[in-house]
Amino acid sequence: MTKNDKSYVIAIDQGTTSSRAIIFDHDGKIVSVGQKEHEQIFPKAGWVEHDATEIWDNIREVIGNALSKANLTRHHIEAVGITNQRETAVVWDKNTGKPVYNAIVWQDTRTQPIVDELAGPEKDLDRFKDICGLPLATYFSGTKVKWILDNVEGAREKAEAGDLLFGTTDTWVLWNLTGGTDGGVHVTDVTNASRTMFMDLKSLSWDESILKEFGVPASMLPEIRSSSEVYGTVHSDQLLREVPIAGILGDQQAATFGQAAFEAGEAKNTYGTGCFLIFNTGEEIVHSKNGLLTTVGYKIGDQPAHYALEGSIAVAGSLIQWLRDNLKLISSAPEVERLAASVEDNGGVYIVPAFSGLFAPYWRSEARGAIVGLTRFANRGHIARAALEATAFQTREVLDAVNADAEVPFEELKVDGGMTANDALMQFQADILGVPVIRPEITETTALGAAYAAGLAVGFWRDMDELRAQWAEDTRWVPAMADEERDRQMRLWKKAVTKTFDWVD
Ligand code: G3P
Repeated sequence: MTKNDKSYVIAIDQGTTSSRAIIFDHDGKIVSVGQKEHEQIFPKAGWVEHDATEIWDNIREVIGNALSKANLTRHHIEAVGITNQRETAVVWDKNTGKPVYNAIVWQDTRTQPIVDELAGPEKDLDRFKDICGLPLATYFSGTKVKWILDNVEGAREKAEAGDLLFGTTDTWVLWNLTGGTDGGVHVTDVTNASRTMFMDLKSLSWDESILKEFGVPASMLPEIRSSSEVYGTVHSDQLLREVPIAGILGDQQAATFGQAAFEAGEAKNTYGTGCFLIFNTGEEIVHSKNGLLTTVGYKIGDQPAHYALEGSIAVAGSLIQWLRDNLKLISSAPEVERLAASVEDNGGVYIVPAFSGLFAPYWRSEARGAIVGLTRFANRGHIARAALEATAFQTREVLDAVNADAEVPFEELKVDGGMTANDALMQFQADILGVPVIRPEITETTALGAAYAAGLAVGFWRDMDELRAQWAEDTRWVPAMADEERDRQMRLWKKAVTKTFDWVD
């Protein structure tokens, strides 16, 4: 028996709807999972918040659950990796450890006036794009931090006095895990930093000129480090005390890493709360002409960063939750598959879930959701079907953008995430893309990617070739739809999308 037969890596996945801790063995196989949902707070239309304190409490609980389910202790754990919902902004007081406001979630659109103000009279949404790779949009952390400083009483003064810290949830979890007010480490990785609008993609450091425009003091920002290195060890009052924390990747970049899409030209599409396609462009920074974001893919220790183009879709799985929680059309998310299968096709119904405006490739914050094509014939089944198909249509639009930017068309698409368990959806996805869709054996690629990054840093895994060898295909869906039907469906979808534009006064 080798040492690795008894040692493991734990990944903490701080997601949009829940936090999880997943323990992986040396073969990249899941040993145990702890999971807990947190409250989604919707104070007003377009506002989405999380209680960062609740999230931290849940993280401690799920770590305990994962360890006890597997009958393991900290002595079996070689490293901790962290992955997280990106862009969600937490601002807290470094002296008390308490957040000054709820975390403002990536889906939140309250900062539209800040976006408009920063875009100026020319409405130049791309004014920082050459530096940070992103258009001005409510999605990214930058405007959310500014909103907190502008709207929470006393926050700006405290920030200027150096008493407040900002972080995405990776940073919040890391700071608390490493001791919080008792010497917590205030660090983020390049992938999360690349979602703030504040980081220069070339130098991988905070850009003073952008910070000045936003009015955000540099002193509140975490130090930017690579995605795979030891940032610190877990504090002595925690279950995992003394274990090194050695990997951080934003969840979509983590999924790309977990899919072993390490090289230029490789890609993945993750179907979670939203849906995110990431296309690795290697060491080259590629600026999209077709509505994609430029972002950092990963950076291993001192090695050069790998960059990526990203097609972000704000609403995918969350549309199914909306059918469940707001419309009460289904009582559990998996029920949607059965309901969708009760009808032959979508009956001409299309749902465009522009709940947070439209992300890629449109970037229209003023868009709002629409259900179109309704007739007296339409029933619950058609609505369920249209909800599932919406994700497939949006993915096709993002893939078209990647193909246009990359000039070499995709021949297949690697997928992962919760919705890939839905066979009918994956078949429809292959049909509407016209290329095969492939799901790996391990679909928990987000947590796996964070575990890989941490395990590489501490020598638990030797190198990336070893990781690549662990990737194995599970299912392949091959397109079966006639070209004309595919074209007809896309035509109707695009028409439906136009109905959501200019909805906000
Ligand atoms: O950019 C937002 C993204 O990181 C959230 O991912 O897994 O909650 O859809 P997910």
